[in-house]
Amino acid sequence: MKTIDFTDQELPKLGIGTWFLGENPSTRMSEIQSIRYGIEHGIQLIDTAEMYGEGLSEKLVGEAIQPYDRSSLYIVSKVYPWNANPEHMETSVNNTLRRLNTDYLDMYLYHWRGTTPLKATISEFERMKSLGKIKNWGVSNFDTEDMKALLSEKDGKQCRVNQVLYHLGDRGIDYSLAPYCAENNINLMAYCPLAQAGQIQRGLLQHPSLVRLSKKLNLTVYQLLLCFIQERSNIIPIPRTSSVEHMKENLKTLDIHLPREIMDELDEAFPPPSRKMPLTIV
Ligand SMILES: NC(=O)c1ccc[n+]([C@@H]2O[C@H](COP(=O)([O-])OP(=O)(O)OC[C@H]3O[C@@H](n4cnc5c(N)ncnc54)[C@H](OP(=O)(O)O)[C@@H]3O)[C@@H](O)[C@H]2O)c1
Repeated sequence: MKTIDFTDQELPKLGIGTWFLGENPSTRMSEIQSIRYGIEHGIQLIDTAEMYGEGLSEKLVGEAIQPYDRSSLYIVSKVYPWNANPEHMETSVNNTLRRLNTDYLDMYLYHWRGTTPLKATISEFERMKSLGKIKNWGVSNFDTEDMKALLSEKDGKQCRVNQVLYHLGDRGIDYSLAPYCAENNINLMAYCPLAQAGQIQRGLLQHPSLVRLSKKLNLTVYQLLLCFIQERSNIIPIPRTSSVEHMKENLKTLDIHLPREIMDELDEAFPPPSRKMPLTIV
């Protein structure tokens, strides 16, 4: 199984995304089944946020993880920028923990950079750590300059993760952000690894190179997109699915290695950027 050294833990190199989950009563059961299928077949990391359905995703995750040993899971949630300050963070984290029905988060992320001075957010994250409510903290949607500003603050180097958009059709982070994070021992989480099933990049799933290579390897295009990310060091994809069948397909990628010549062909069809691109934020 492909694994990643993630904040000093070895985890399977596939997580579960949960944006939009828990919002539709008619698909709730299959969403829970899909998450549980993932957990029962080795997935440990689950990503959610107070923003997702204003807590409905966290509630769904709380229900889905209820039968399992908490210590075998790695739960990530995120705080809104306007709550990432000394006035509101403790209330936010308490609400998140209550919805998840757990007493700690493995990772708490600053969802995107707001107006609170970084040092105030950092010191509040550190306080939540000292209270045992979170094990570690990180950021999301921080570009290279944001990371530099963060790491120059006192305790800024305690940041362990940056969660950013990354898929084969959008490799902007490969220019400077990914190398900068790797140099500073910060793991990356790849969100929208399937480009939201092609919705945020029309034509990606029909790209002739992807169609040809996936046929050659007997994979779906979705699996090929995940495998591409998993072949890269220091980054874990967190696809979302509400379907057990799709979860099964996604899990299979953990045991598939792409040969070097396939990675070369993908690099040729989807070249890494040759100059700094602004970070895409969804
Ligand atoms: N930090 C941030 O700002 C941020 C922003 C966006 C997302 N995120 C996180 O990243 C996660 C993933 O991103 P995302 O949910 O936006 O999009 P995504 O994972 O790229 O795509 C999700 C879509 O792919 C489909 N899908 C999944 N597996 C499939 C398979 N094997 N075959 C066919 N279709 C498949 C899903 O449909 P089915 O349900 O039918 O399978 C769903 O429509 C989110 O859920 C969230 O946790 C974070």
